[in-house]
Amino acid sequence: MAHDHLIEMLDLDAEVLHEYHRDLIGWVGREAADRPRIVDIGAGSGTGSLALARELPGSEVTAVDVSPEMLAHLRSRADAAGLGGRIRTVEADLDQPWPDLGPTDVIWAAASMHHMADPGHALASAYGALRPGGLLVIAELDSFPHFLAGTPDEDVEERGHAEAAKRRHEAGLHMHENWGERISQAGFTAVTERHFDIDLRPPLPAAAARYAEVSLLRMRHGLQERLSASDLAALDKVVAGLGGRDDLSVRTERTVWLARR
Ligand SMILES: C[S@@+](CC[C@H](N)C(=O)[O-])C[C@H]1O[C@@H](n2cnc3c(N)ncnc32)[C@H](O)[C@@H]1O
Repeated sequence: MAHDHLIEMLDLDAEVLHEYHRDLIGWVGREAADRPRIVDIGAGSGTGSLALARELPGSEVTAVDVSPEMLAHLRSRADAAGLGGRIRTVEADLDQPWPDLGPTDVIWAAASMHHMADPGHALASAYGALRPGGLLVIAELDSFPHFLAGTPDEDVEERGHAEAAKRRHEAGLHMHENWGERISQAGFTAVTERHFDIDLRPPLPAAAARYAEVSLLRMRHGLQERLSASDLAALDKVVAGLGGRDDLSVRTERTVWLARR
């Protein structure tokens, strides 16, 4: 269940936060070489791979992920969008020595670097894979989306996020790293950082309620032993009633770093 929801959640993130994704892709497009060869690491359901292939004519994208389910979904989306000829998929665990990915002008890592067991290894591998002058892009989440701010349910959502953050920390995920510093330490130069404060207010597109539902379900999934019975019941009630609400918002913060090899 969790994995299906992850694919759907990533697709909905692209749809609901399309202005953020458009801004980001535009920025990267202006910095990238002509007809770049791009490697999307931890490509997931394909948000970055598809948007980059669309934005940058003549680009070629190698989408790398450890999950065959993600790559199969990405492939079917790429084919359906007529981009299949410029996007290839490679199944690999990027915590291991990287496969030879060929000459690379751009490495794109969106919400994936925090999953690496050893981000230092991943950054050194990215450095080794890029041509001199090539562009590294790291996008990370400062905060996961909040949907209930300013409503009577905001406190229970907040407690859920706090417990989910502890859980991620205990699982060894590298959230809230100083990626700018780590990128510099790995030898990259010209590090630029941009912060995106996303705050979407009603009326929201229809997809936003489903995005809230799958996000809250995923959050709820890991908290059985961590929240009180009354909080769990309150969250279940919120999830069941999302479709009929007109007070949802979407608030999340992202930071993106660009750097040169
Ligand atoms: C949160 S998703 C982000 C997906 C996509 N980049 C996006 O922005 O929507 C993280 C992805 O990293 C992949 N991943 C995690 N650890 C990995 C590893 N060691 N090697 C390759 N991929 C990995 C996961 O399978 C997942 O698809």
